[in-house]
Amino acid sequence: MARNQKDYFYDLAQKEGYRSRASYKLKQIQGHSDIIKRGDTIVDLGAAPGGWLQVAKELSGGRVLGVDLQKIEEIAGVTTYRGDITADSTIDYVLEFAGKGGVDVVLCDAAPNLTGNWALDHARGVELNRAAFECAKKILKPKGTFVVKVFQGDMFKDFFDDVKGEFVHVRAYNPQASRSTSAEIYVIAKKFLTAPIRKGQIYAVEITETGATGDGIAYIDDFVIFTKEAVIGDIVNIKIKDVKPNFGFADVVEKLTELPQNPRYGNPIRERTQTPLSADFERGDKPTKPQRGNASRDNYRPPKTDDSEENNNENE
Ligand SMILES: C[S@@+](CC[C@H](N)C(=O)[O-])C[C@H]1O[C@@H](n2cnc3c(N)ncnc32)[C@H](O)[C@@H]1O
Repeated sequence: MARNQKDYFYDLAQKEGYRSRASYKLKQIQGHSDIIKRGDTIVDLGAAPGGWLQVAKELSGGRVLGVDLQKIEEIAGVTTYRGDITADSTIDYVLEFAGKGGVDVVLCDAAPNLTGNWALDHARGVELNRAAFECAKKILKPKGTFVVKVFQGDMFKDFFDDVKGEFVHVRAYNPQASRSTSAEIYVIAKKFLTAPIRKGQIYAVEITETGATGDGIAYIDDFVIFTKEAVIGDIVNIKIKDVKPNFGFADVVEKLTELPQNPRYGNPIRERTQTPLSADFERGDKPTKPQRGNASRDNYRPPKTDDSEENNNENE
């Protein structure tokens, strides 16, 4: 984004009473992906000075917690906590806030202090992303939403794939309010999966029922898996094609003579596969390596193309 646009959002924030121009990134993410609903409980990790907290509170009206290393000046109706999101003591506080019911949305706009060493800065950014992801997995309600800022680089794809394994919809989105020189991109993950199975994994199961459309049905921990071309009594390795909040779909990959020892059902025998990155970017953005010798992440920008694509796990 050109400097005048940067100033545009800065000026707008001043005029409209937001604490940071980042508020408009969250507004744009909301306009694009409708992540916050009225009444939602929200945790914002890396929240100072509080621009996102203001927007989150306006949108939800529900319970909102902001966490940061820095002190966050009071915002009416918002709980704040000063702490490091990579520290157990902070996560304990967040867990207490979330309670047994959990939260609807976890946001993370955290950014490390830049050292100028690109590789180090990228690694620190991913460390924050992973801390937020681990926290989100502990506190999100089933079907909850996770939004996290990522600085692109070598470790982005692994992180993105890991997030994709835990949510029905995951996309990368680049709000207009982000500076055009920035390597940041927002990963928006919706419909947190609490199913005991994961897409791409292979499980040994017995088919015990037939579904209305003739597919075989296997259960893993009471979770229904519709399995193509399988009949009652088949003992098979199945590969999970898709996971919905309440059921999954699978194909038979191998017939077995008996279930492996010990597990009742659902013996995951292989790691999940990873899907190609090219389909994952909202604007067709693909991560590229930064220019070596140029330490600033702000100079690391993925190329833009016209093709726009929503990725992954198309069906809700
Ligand atoms: C870009 S600012 C967040 C802006 C915020 N979304 C807003 O709208 O005002 C990034 C924040 O991440 C925080 N941060 C960085 N590392 C952190 C950590 N380990 N734990 C908690 N906060 C952290 C920084 O202190 C900083 O306030």
